[in-house]
Amino acid sequence: MSRPRPARIELAAADYCGEVLRGLRRTPKRLPSKFFYDARGSALFERICEQPEYYLTRAELEIVDAHAADIADALGAGVALIEYGSGSARKTARLLTALRECAAYVPVEISPSALQGCARRIAALAAGLPIAPVCADFTQFSLAPDVLPPHRRRVVYFPGSTLGNFDDAGALALLRQMRRQIGDSGAALIGIDLRKDAATLEAAYNDAAGVTADFTLNMLARFNRELRADFQLRRFAHRARWNAEASRIETHIVSLAEQDVRVAGWRFHFAAGEAMLVECSCKYSLPQFAALAARAGLRVQRMWTDARQRFSVQLLVPLR
Ligand code: AVJ
Repeated sequence: MSRPRPARIELAAADYCGEVLRGLRRTPKRLPSKFFYDARGSALFERICEQPEYYLTRAELEIVDAHAADIADALGAGVALIEYGSGSARKTARLLTALRECAAYVPVEISPSALQGCARRIAALAAGLPIAPVCADFTQFSLAPDVLPPHRRRVVYFPGSTLGNFDDAGALALLRQMRRQIGDSGAALIGIDLRKDAATLEAAYNDAAGVTADFTLNMLARFNRELRADFQLRRFAHRARWNAEASRIETHIVSLAEQDVRVAGWRFHFAAGEAMLVECSCKYSLPQFAALAARAGLRVQRMWTDARQRFSVQLLVPLR
């Protein structure tokens, strides 16, 4: 069994604090959703995936299970797989089982604990598969030349509809980054959640057990632990609403009272009812997604959906 190499760490701690402070200084305040994923946040996300309302994970697993052989054929044998935001890599485990002679696996994950779990899981599953974990924000990493085997088709795997967490410009930048990383003969395999009725969507992001609310507010708990912040979690609430015009679920942290909070020595004021945007989850129609991919120089070669057409897995290849 080839042991996973120690992860390359590309997440500078100083950047993290600076980014939080910059977000809190904006009007309106806004923080990126990547800050959800410390060890506890990653564990809470795994629990979200098990909630009956959160259909995304089950729909995507259904697709990978039902079409594993077809997907593997479309990718080809002996590819180098680069996964953005691997998390615990449950979907990847199923995909890798179907892939023939994968040449290398490069998980890129912001949470060190999730990355470690991912590398262990995949190493146990695929004996002999070279694994090169990268601990990084997948929007800001470069593929070092020694990380990938030469002369192999490169496939970026980006499941979970995480592309939906980016606005148009961000999603486009990320698709262009993939286009560069895969070269002219590679491919990208991307999980994309589809537009559907508001009730289903709002339920998915407001589960009855309150796991999503815990996940959202964990961002504040994490700042308390790591950035000398003093957020009182009971004075904030999770709110997720469907914005039909923007075609996205918008998750806010709402201040329940007028209050001051300290973060890393700085004081921030919150008005009662003030809402801080912490995540957008865009939902696409098939033509809308194809048009976005085209702007990044990619075309949809294959597309699979679950039986109820809630979710899609899209295979993109370079245009022309
Ligand atoms: C799987 C990261 C895309 O937006 O659906 C789940 C994260 N946030 N519930 C999503 C999430 C609230 C999620 N991603």
